[in-house]
Amino acid sequence: MESELDWVDVGAVEALAGRALQQVMARSTRLAITYRDGRFAAISGACNHVGGPLGEGRLDGDYVECPWHYWKFHRATGEGEPGYEDDAVPAYAVKVDDGRLLVDMASATKRRKKPHAAHPLARTPQRDDGPVRVLGLSTTAMTDGHPRFSTSEALLDEAMAHAAAQGFEARTIRLRDLKFRACEGFYSKSAHACTWPCSITQMDPTDELDQVYEALVHWADVYILATPIRWGAASSLYFKMVERMNCIQNQETVANRHLLKNKSAGFIITGGQDNVQGTAGQMLGFFAELGVQFPQFPYIAHSRGWSAEDMENNTRIVAESEALREGARGLVDRCAAMAALMIHGQIPAQALVRGGRKAHRSLPRAPREG
Ligand code: FES
Repeated sequence: MESELDWVDVGAVEALAGRALQQVMARSTRLAITYRDGRFAAISGACNHVGGPLGEGRLDGDYVECPWHYWKFHRATGEGEPGYEDDAVPAYAVKVDDGRLLVDMASATKRRKKPHAAHPLARTPQRDDGPVRVLGLSTTAMTDGHPRFSTSEALLDEAMAHAAAQGFEARTIRLRDLKFRACEGFYSKSAHACTWPCSITQMDPTDELDQVYEALVHWADVYILATPIRWGAASSLYFKMVERMNCIQNQETVANRHLLKNKSAGFIITGGQDNVQGTAGQMLGFFAELGVQFPQFPYIAHSRGWSAEDMENNTRIVAESEALREGARGLVDRCAAMAALMIHGQIPAQALVRGGRKAHRSLPRAPREG
């Protein structure tokens, strides 16, 4: 009946027909308006996944593709793409009247969300009882099947053998053994497009960084990270991992959620040339932003300086250095002591609330339509 309709003028047909897909506001509701083969259609502008702006995506045939993580909804029915029809966003009746496009807000179909099994990483971090757990992370790259001596990894191996000998649980991950994608910049679209678990991890079951996330968030109390110095900085694999860890830090900002509780970290940094302190500073800064704690003297390092190009001697010096091995063992002891202090409840949990430097205020965000 006419009285049940609620037509809202969303703009001039001439202007709206110029784009295949666009976002418009109908009162306070975001809509994705499409124009194809001479016909308009309207669906909700808020994606079922985590609220991405459908009207800012792209039109692929009759499907609107979300710009955040590429879910698709039929431009007229609002249903998900074939196989995902149970996921549907509201669809609206439209009509053209006197050169204006009108949308009947009362005609909205129901939003349907197909239940999606939560990713295993999404569970609440809960420390199981047991000894201190030490994760060793090597960020050294080398050729598959052709191992070479790595100074940072040799010291990491020493540290991890010591951790096991102390009765700690010890696990080493070598990043080069994992196939994982580079961060693709979901955060750059919107802080809310950067999800936990990582959007790539959720979309791509072949991506193996889930092993690192699992160990960092759910298993380890202590992280010992080892890196060579490459051009005055940590290794490229280190940065490839760190960029993917933005989703952990971002939870502080968008959800006031502190994923890394009672964790301590130490670093092993070695290189033929220098910049130990610059490399350590970057690593300390990043892990501090994640809420990780450090023991006194949180890194050990070795380098011989700018003019030391005789790398054979560099590897020999590290291989023969009892002082460096002793340093690696001491680093584990200090990190484990710091973790034990936190695990045993010396630091009140409230002290960590709103700990992220960007979490002191709520981010304004686009409305999510029901
Ligand atoms: S696909 Fe739309 S918000 Fe993720």
